[in-house]
Amino acid sequence: MGKLEGKVAIITGAASGIGEAIAKLYLAEGARVVLTDLPGHGLEAMFSGPNVHCLELDVTADDSAEAVVAAANAKFGGLDILVNNAGIALGKQFEDTTDEDFDRIMAVNVRSVFRTSRAAVPSLKARGAGRIINLGSIMSGTGGPLLAAYGCSKHAVAGLSKGMACDLGQYGITVNYLQPGSIWTGMSKPFMEDAGFRQYWETKAPMGRIGDPHDVAVAALFLATDEASFISGAGLAVDGGAAIRF
Ligand SMILES: NC(=O)c1ccc[n+]([C@@H]2O[C@H](COP(=O)([O-])OP(=O)(O)OC[C@H]3O[C@@H](n4cnc5c(N)ncnc54)[C@H](O)[C@@H]3O)[C@@H](O)[C@H]2O)c1
Repeated sequence: MGKLEGKVAIITGAASGIGEAIAKLYLAEGARVVLTDLPGHGLEAMFSGPNVHCLELDVTADDSAEAVVAAANAKFGGLDILVNNAGIALGKQFEDTTDEDFDRIMAVNVRSVFRTSRAAVPSLKARGAGRIINLGSIMSGTGGPLLAAYGCSKHAVAGLSKGMACDLGQYGITVNYLQPGSIWTGMSKPFMEDAGFRQYWETKAPMGRIGDPHDVAVAALFLATDEASFISGAGLAVDGGAAIRF
């Protein structure tokens, strides 16, 4: 029997990288999943079957949070797990970062997590238990060059997760955030093309490599299981040990 047999999960940003890996692993472990990504990113061509429902939407759109939760209820009769994965990166000098850059990264990486989680709470409460897993970053706990706005958004994910954990524990809902280091995905590809950047992260991690999306997915699986019911408000590093070298 799969570790998520009978569970219903929402995974945002599932057409690429970490979200795609989480979606595949959750499906393999028996979950029924509602997957979202931006229109035109090929989500429906990637995932199909009776245990999958795909929604093309922008997580920053006003009605997206309610729409995705409504889909979980309508298609699969409820909701147990929400993975707020959709995110964008920005590598830019602080002085060159515009108001539009800052507002956009906060809207995608933070506001959507807030809004989708809030929309999910009634359905999770109705189950008497729930899991919210947010994608933070190694930058949730430190800073990096060209990453002021991105790092700010990921620190906010950590703060939001801890506050939500405090308020939602009474309903049996845990809230945790993952802190990946450098992982091979579409987001990191442009950065990895710089050999110096890649080498920096390979040597920063005691494990001596860049991570794979599956490395993050197994952590997202663990936090989603019934066995993880006493872990809440935690940030789980998935970085090959990179953070301990800062
Ligand atoms: N790759 C890394 O090294 C790394 C490290 C730490 C944290 N993270 C975090 O992991 C998460 C996943 O990143 P990834 O590396 O897999 O990136 P990715 O670019 O491969 O995947 C992100 C997905 O989110 C989707 N998305 C972006 N904006 C969206 C929007 N407005 N509405 C709906 N979907 C949207 C994209 O289309 C894409 O499919 C992000 O939150 C990211 O910040 C990644």
